[in-house]
Amino acid sequence: MSEPQPVYSSDYQPPAYRVTHTELTFDLDPASTRVDARLTVERHPEARPDAPLFLHGEQLELQSVALDGQTLADDAYRHDEQGLTIADVPASFTLDTRVRVAPRDNTALEGLYQSSGMYCTQCEAEGFRRITFYPDRPDVMAVFRVTVIGDAEREPVLLANGNPVERGELDGGRHFVTWEDPHPKPSYLFALVAGDLECVEDRFTTMSGRDVTLQIWVEEDNLGKTDHAMASLKRAMRWDEDTYGREYDLDRFMIVAVNDFNMGAMENKGLNIFNSAAVLTHPDTATDAAFQQVEGIVAHEYFHNWSGNRVTCRDWFQLSLKEGFTVFRDQSFSADINSAPVKRIQDVGFFRTAQFAEDAGPTAHPVRPESYLEITNFYTLTVYEKGAEVVRMLKNLVGEDAFRRGSDLYFARFDGQAVTIEDFVGCMAEVSGQNLDQFMRWYQQAGTPEIDAHGEYDYVNGEYRLTLRQRTPVTAGQQAPEPLHVPVRMGLIGTRSGHDLTLTLDGEKCGRDTVLHLRDDEQTFVFTDVSEAPTPSLLRHFSAPVKLNFPYSREDLAFLLTHDSDGFNRWEASQRLAMLALNDLIAAHRNGVEKVMDNRLVEAYRPLLTSRSDDKAVLAEMLRLPSEACIAESQPLVDVDAIHAAREFVRQSLALALRDDFMAVYEANRSDAEYAPTPAQIGQRSLKNVALGYLMAIEDEAGIEHCRAQFKAGQNMTDVRQALTLLAHSSRDDLSEPAIRAFGEQWADDPLVMDQWFSLQVSSPQEDVLERVKQLMTHPAFSLKNPNKVRALLGTFAHNRVNFHRLDGAGYALLADAVIELDGLNPEIAAGLMTPLTRWRRFDDTRQALMQAELERIKDRPLSTNVFEMADKALG
Ligand code: TRP
Ligand code: ZN
Repeated sequence: MSEPQPVYSSDYQPPAYRVTHTELTFDLDPASTRVDARLTVERHPEARPDAPLFLHGEQLELQSVALDGQTLADDAYRHDEQGLTIADVPASFTLDTRVRVAPRDNTALEGLYQSSGMYCTQCEAEGFRRITFYPDRPDVMAVFRVTVIGDAEREPVLLANGNPVERGELDGGRHFVTWEDPHPKPSYLFALVAGDLECVEDRFTTMSGRDVTLQIWVEEDNLGKTDHAMASLKRAMRWDEDTYGREYDLDRFMIVAVNDFNMGAMENKGLNIFNSAAVLTHPDTATDAAFQQVEGIVAHEYFHNWSGNRVTCRDWFQLSLKEGFTVFRDQSFSADINSAPVKRIQDVGFFRTAQFAEDAGPTAHPVRPESYLEITNFYTLTVYEKGAEVVRMLKNLVGEDAFRRGSDLYFARFDGQAVTIEDFVGCMAEVSGQNLDQFMRWYQQAGTPEIDAHGEYDYVNGEYRLTLRQRTPVTAGQQAPEPLHVPVRMGLIGTRSGHDLTLTLDGEKCGRDTVLHLRDDEQTFVFTDVSEAPTPSLLRHFSAPVKLNFPYSREDLAFLLTHDSDGFNRWEASQRLAMLALNDLIAAHRNGVEKVMDNRLVEAYRPLLTSRSDDKAVLAEMLRLPSEACIAESQPLVDVDAIHAAREFVRQSLALALRDDFMAVYEANRSDAEYAPTPAQIGQRSLKNVALGYLMAIEDEAGIEHCRAQFKAGQNMTDVRQALTLLAHSSRDDLSEPAIRAFGEQWADDPLVMDQWFSLQVSSPQEDVLERVKQLMTHPAFSLKNPNKVRALLGTFAHNRVNFHRLDGAGYALLADAVIELDGLNPEIAAGLMTPLTRWRRFDDTRQALMQAELERIKDRPLSTNVFEMADKALG
């Protein structure tokens, strides 16, 4: 294999030829599907007349090529690993190609493949070139007409984008359906599905009164699991009309659930294809978290219809143009229809753990990368989640009203076009009159900026001086970072009164909550008329994706935890307070000193447990300790054992000190109400289950009884799974084994429940986990070919802090073996699975050496570009 060549953003050239019409015919067969393509091609007016025509094409069996109806001789074109080049073509012509592909053998799940017997496609980013020869780039947009021919019995349902326009019977028990999609689209949005599927149907009337048919297509067994996705879809459609003025633009909208899928879901025009885990729910089989995730993903894919499909990306470097914006849109939607503070707390908690880690590691890259070897490696937390944070900052900078006008302008001006991030930000600058040049650095610079803040109160003059200093670390492949434009939302809370003070900055009153614009390396903000000593509440709502350091004392944090008017920052104070206690204990563990619990944390928790707050979900989040992964992010060198020991010690100390309170919370929040995924019920279950977690941390008899009873009662998967997880993670085999066995037998035939069963077993802190992983890899329900199973078993194990990082290196070796084997089947999933290994530099010398050796063992093999790029960067 030749060394893969990087693609550079700066090399972008507009296409020399565009395709206006694409006609495809698929004659489906597992081993040899025939794909006929007729492309109407035009040379770009500015392209050179002698420009050759290049069509991407990979792993295609070429059968014939004809130009304007004339079959081309073998020497009239060049066919290599990348595609087809025709040197001499007229200014406009039609091109016919015939190829064959083998969906049955496609384990990479890119292009046309089979999943549980049905045919489906995944084309983003560059999968269409595995279906036919085509300019497979998002700036070539065509109108598609697609005919699908299948076996009438095996494939009664034949779907593609747009509207069905013709159908009929054919000889030999075959039939066909022809679909037309009137909206020009890039090839990555093409989709086809064929199989024995059933559908649930509903309707939606758009804001202009058009009637849309909504369909969710599933295997027959899953017909009872679509209600929540359908309800979510209708809510999302209404929300996008109300919030962004965006209306749906076809007569039908289809969702298909498939079992084998590389990611969550895909926004193909009019025919979204979903990982079954991202669409199917039932109270008995899906947790509250899964219900909320389905709601968010259904909305996300639907929102792409405008932010992605109607206005698409010029090239893949602009990926965050559609993904960052669409994640921001789905986050706003979920916040609006559920509890806004909880949604923000959960998103930020995840972001600071996982994206910060990415941004500090060898695969760090800007929201808009400048080069890549393999684009599928760039569907990252940085492009998606940090991209969403950047859009959120933009909205806060220009204000709600200008943001809406900016998005209206963006959709109107660029409808039907493939554009860049500058085009999007340009609209926001234009409508707001603000200069966003410095702001663009958020798209260009990798690494998490740190802000050091300190404040001084001057009694005599009633002044509070807040100094903010920013620095962005140097990351792989980038030189001197420049200062960013950072919106810091904040307030000052009177330490005596406990109330937000009215702020006066530069002589101007600015309410009780304001946004500071930090643009320089260092700036001091002077607040006047400050009547009493304040405690600052900084970076409210996480107003910028940065690390903020402020020398808060424990007293300050306990104060903020009860007095901050911002719910998000009350949670933030609880986490900071816990971190102070945890840090002391981590140091104690390392130095072999006796561990002593910080009583101030206990005293901060006590009133929370008896509070009558009606946002139980926020309360639950405040009572949840930072995860081990989150704690690790705050450490200069990750000591997995010390972190685990410290966290367990805090958990048990809190449980011992507050046992009766936790018990009372647990008992008060049980309920017999019929399950509904409402914010109120979810909050209540969440609080109850946090309490149960503490009770099980000390395994006292009453707690164990509650846990067992909750597991046995089987009221809903949220409660069952939490109880089962606590039992399974217990050191007592008499608690764990019978429960694991009973659950595994009960749900043996439900793949999505079995995913949970795999995952909860291998996230245990107990010592036998590695052996369990090996044994579960031979379980009949496990398959290396199914990405959900790989993520549930191997992905979860690789995030198990204590067991993956075993000092004998066996965890690393197991993962490396799996990556190597999986690379032969599905390179995209193999590359994703190795992420934890790439973070080797964060650990002690022994673990570093072990991880590095495994990375080198991987890199010595013949590899896909995906895994090669990850290994190469990791070792870099
Ligand atoms: N565009 C999809 C989304 O974010 C995700 C996606 C990209 C994807 N590539 C994929 C999904 C490959 C499945 C497989 O909504
Ligand atoms: Zn997306």
